[in-house]
Amino acid sequence: MLTEAFIPDDMELIVDEKLKNKTAIITGASSGIGRAAGMQLARHGATVVLVARREKQLQAVAGEIKAFGGNSIVVVADMSRSEEIDRCLSICRERTGRLDIAVVNAGRGLAGGLLSSDESQWEEMYKLNVLSAARLMRRCGAWMLERGSGDIVVLGSVSGHHISPFSGFYGSSKWALASLAEAFRREVASKGIRVSTIKPGVVESEFQAVAGYDRDNFYKTIEKYGTLLTPEDVADAIAYVVTRPAHVLINDLIIRPIGQDYP
Ligand SMILES: NC(=O)c1ccc[n+]([C@@H]2O[C@H](COP(=O)([O-])OP(=O)(O)OC[C@H]3O[C@@H](n4cnc5c(N)ncnc54)[C@H](OP(=O)(O)O)[C@@H]3O)[C@@H](O)[C@H]2O)c1
Repeated sequence: MLTEAFIPDDMELIVDEKLKNKTAIITGASSGIGRAAGMQLARHGATVVLVARREKQLQAVAGEIKAFGGNSIVVVADMSRSEEIDRCLSICRERTGRLDIAVVNAGRGLAGGLLSSDESQWEEMYKLNVLSAARLMRRCGAWMLERGSGDIVVLGSVSGHHISPFSGFYGSSKWALASLAEAFRREVASKGIRVSTIKPGVVESEFQAVAGYDRDNFYKTIEKYGTLLTPEDVADAIAYVVTRPAHVLINDLIIRPIGQDYP
């Protein structure tokens, strides 16, 4: 049982009904953008299926959601493995019976370009950022087509819109992902499925440490950007996209800290 003491002072105990009776699956929900998106969509009344590898962190997010009166389901899964994607969606089907929103968010960065990035991490990154994301989009899209509606929100990056000087190889995976999302939009939009790509600039999260960014390859460059985006800023954009009227599709959305001129 959660106690009152678990509820942070500044947390509003309000859940609105914009997404009432809807189910949203969010990958990478144990931290950063995915965590914030899980909280935000749950605040709008969706049942959120929180997916990542670290159970403790997922349970903490689920606890926070429960504390403000929202609903969530925790699924511990490694989304870079196709059988885990299938298991995750089976659990979602068994527990909720429907899928309205998929936030294809689990992903990782990698410092450096072709010469300077760690080649031993290329395959793992492409597997997660591109192939797993594509598998998830394909499976979620097929499920949504059964009802003829649904939202697939894909986390691209500004580095997948302009080639970034400090993370060119990572950026290339986000270019690939954005292309897949746009191709998928053309495949399924006329059948009622909205595919949206959100391309954030620099967001403070665990992303930078996982990517291996340091002062020389990253922090020196972003000093001039000023206040960076928070995961909640991006979650707001995700919530905006999925709460538009059914005939409105936000196709491609770039969101940057105001001081980030490039990429
Ligand atoms: N932060 C930025 O500046 C930025 C900018 C543009 C785009 N993005 C994109 O936004 C997305 C989220 O990034 P973030 O900033 O929120 O980073 P983050 O805090 O590092 O979150 C990444 C999430 O992905 C999960 N994840 C990683 N590998 C996974 C796997 N194999 N299976 C399941 N889950 C996995 C992590 O959880 P576990 O470790 O528990 O599995 C974590 O919840 C990524 O796709 C990233 O490329 C980030």
